Amino acid sequence: MMPNTDVLHDLEPTVERLLERHLASSKEWFPHEYVPYSRGRDHATGETWSEDDADLAGAKIDDAVRSALLVNLLTEDNLPYYFRSVERMFGADGAWGTWVRRWTAEEGRHAMAIYGYLMVTRAIDPHQLERGRMAQVSAGITPDPPTLQHGFVYLALQELATRIAHRSTGRMMGDPAGYEVMMRVASDENLHQLFYRDLAAAALEHDPSGMMCAIEQEVAGFQMPGIGIPDFSHHAARIARAGIYDLAVHHEQILVPVVLRQWDVEHVTGLDADGEQARERLMKRLAKSERVARRVAERRESSLTSV
Ligand SMILES: [Fe+2]
Ligand SMILES: [Fe+2]
Repeated sequence: MMPNTDVLHDLEPTVERLLERHLASSKEWFPHEYVPYSRGRDHATGETWSEDDADLAGAKIDDAVRSALLVNLLTEDNLPYYFRSVERMFGADGAWGTWVRRWTAEEGRHAMAIYGYLMVTRAIDPHQLERGRMAQVSAGITPDPPTLQHGFVYLALQELATRIAHRSTGRMMGDPAGYEVMMRVASDENLHQLFYRDLAAAALEHDPSGMMCAIEQEVAGFQMPGIGIPDFSHHAARIARAGIYDLAVHHEQILVPVVLRQWDVEHVTGLDADGEQARERLMKRLAKSERVARRVAERRESSLTSV
């Protein structure tokens, strides 16, 4: 694998180009314009929340959607640690640093918009949310890719996963204001994933074997950024059961379009022996993940039709 300084130097023109493209396609938006303030009222000290307190414009949400909202917001709340990890990899200089700071500024709005929406609508328990945030941010646990190239891969997969989770949650809200918040945030995540997806594609041309090894390892060990959230696996299981984000979604909407189609790992040329072995393992893993995805999708179908 090439040393980081070479990768940073050689890919700087690519980052400049992708940053310009990002700035040209991203639109300014204001978190406060997405919060339906007229539905809000004071939260009394020590008040206990119940699901009947929620004002979702007549809509009702279940535990899975509440878990998704909690996890989606807590994931955004952990931004200080993502910033730390990405700036450590990319550095603060030149186009790399400009991107990291711009990306951080954009991510900051996501938590503001979702938090505002949840507090005025009382869609989820505000005590549980704040305690979860304190626990998570105090622990500072995030996936930390070991090299720059692992970072490109992880960030591309993670931004897409986050986009999908926000969109699916938005679709299940029922409340048009909730839908708009989640769609707005998801559009930003889409631009982030395009940046990282194309950065990873350039890195794959630059150092095919190093990137192939990174892709193989990141696909093998992928975890959502919410791993540090209290009771994460409990929430993740609910989110998966509702089909908001599960192994079928992960395979069909992330691994197939990005790893197989965009990066076209099957046809990458110029691999050394390590790179070839990594590709072989990766292709086996993808075949296995396809089988798992099919089973998960079938189980979901049959549980939906049996209700
Ligand atoms: Fe975000
Ligand atoms: Fe993002």
